[in-house]
Amino acid sequence: MKVLLGVGGGIAAYKSAELARLLMQQGHEVQVVMTRAAEEFVGPLTFAALTGRKVLTNLFAIESAIEHIAVAQEHELLVIAPATADLMAKLAHGLADDFLTTLYLAFTGPVVLAPAMNVNMWQHAATQANLATLVKRGHGIVEPGSGYLACGMTGPGRLADPETIAAAIERAAHQRRDLEGEAVLITAGPTQEPLDPVRYISNRSSGKMGYALAEAAAARGAQVILISGPVHLPPPRGVELVAVRTAAEMREQVMQHLPAAGIVIKAAAVADFHLSKVPDQKVKKTAARVSLELDPTPDILAELGRKKGDFLLVGFAAETQNLQQEARRKLESKNCDMVVGNLVGGSSDLGFESDENEVVLILRAGKDISLPRASKRAIADRIFDEVLKLRLALHAANGS
Ligand code: CTP
Repeated sequence: MKVLLGVGGGIAAYKSAELARLLMQQGHEVQVVMTRAAEEFVGPLTFAALTGRKVLTNLFAIESAIEHIAVAQEHELLVIAPATADLMAKLAHGLADDFLTTLYLAFTGPVVLAPAMNVNMWQHAATQANLATLVKRGHGIVEPGSGYLACGMTGPGRLADPETIAAAIERAAHQRRDLEGEAVLITAGPTQEPLDPVRYISNRSSGKMGYALAEAAAARGAQVILISGPVHLPPPRGVELVAVRTAAEMREQVMQHLPAAGIVIKAAAVADFHLSKVPDQKVKKTAARVSLELDPTPDILAELGRKKGDFLLVGFAAETQNLQQEARRKLESKNCDMVVGNLVGGSSDLGFESDENEVVLILRAGKDISLPRASKRAIADRIFDEVLKLRLALHAANGS
């Protein structure tokens, strides 16, 4: 692939030399573009020697006045590492006062940014607002790592390692934007049903599958609303997070956001039972034995299935046995278009807390599709591939 590597003026600029080397090793053609500030940290000769190409630097020292346009057209992907706070601000606002920022405006292919800066600069509201703009624009962000920074402070701000940036480049190069203009509502995580002010019933759901779905949908251009029970995961960038605790709260938020949604995916592991009258005070250990009388929670998926308007409905079935039969039973009883079935518990190391999954997609019409073991992020993309195919088929069947 023909890659443009933009180097910003930060201490981490020396690490981009390592990235240039890795990209060359992977068989890419790399054209380096440095800002004036970057040249203060590393000499262009280092990059020229690593890439076998003259480094582009000053806009006005270039032979042709339209060279940035030609360079933009000749390359397939632009990665900027390190992306400094100043560069991010310029990119977010469309300022073009040197070769790299001018090239950015002229470039129409995928863009990947690997920020690196002091932790306070990274967390500053201005930088975070610029970042949100760049995420919204569809650029891939390689999150900075946490650790000891050159400024002596500890926290997020360190340039991601070259392998991580190279993997993000690979993903961005193959990124589809086929959910652009689409609103996707996703539920994730467990729910917690209180027993008293300090105790609750819940389950082992980590939320990883739902969060992976949200990340995949956002990367494909969707506007994503993620309604999540309590989990220990950062929300994916560019996603609207609605935090809930109980099944009742989740139901309320789902119904409130439903009118906007074209695709609804219920990956949450909603508790099936709750205590309808929760005591105000902590329950004391007075009796030798207690028993709980629980009432069913609202079945959100079944209610959505009964409403079933223009949106496409995907449910999940986490089973310990008879996966395909159980998943199909849920598809029919809850009137879904698709159910994603996965085996959990027992000897399976997949499912709830794992980073990987192995699922079977049960479709209303059509054969079951088995997706072999893969990362939850990869499974999420395969689910969206099938959701989009299904929608095309439904539209064709309805003649719309
Ligand atoms: N679900 C829901 N509301 C509930 C329970 C489940 O919306 N109160 C949804 C889940 O988000 C999931 C699907 O229903 O998409 C299947 O959940 P699961 O717990 O596997 O199924 P149950 O309906 O609880 O069936 P069973 O207990 O028989 O396995």
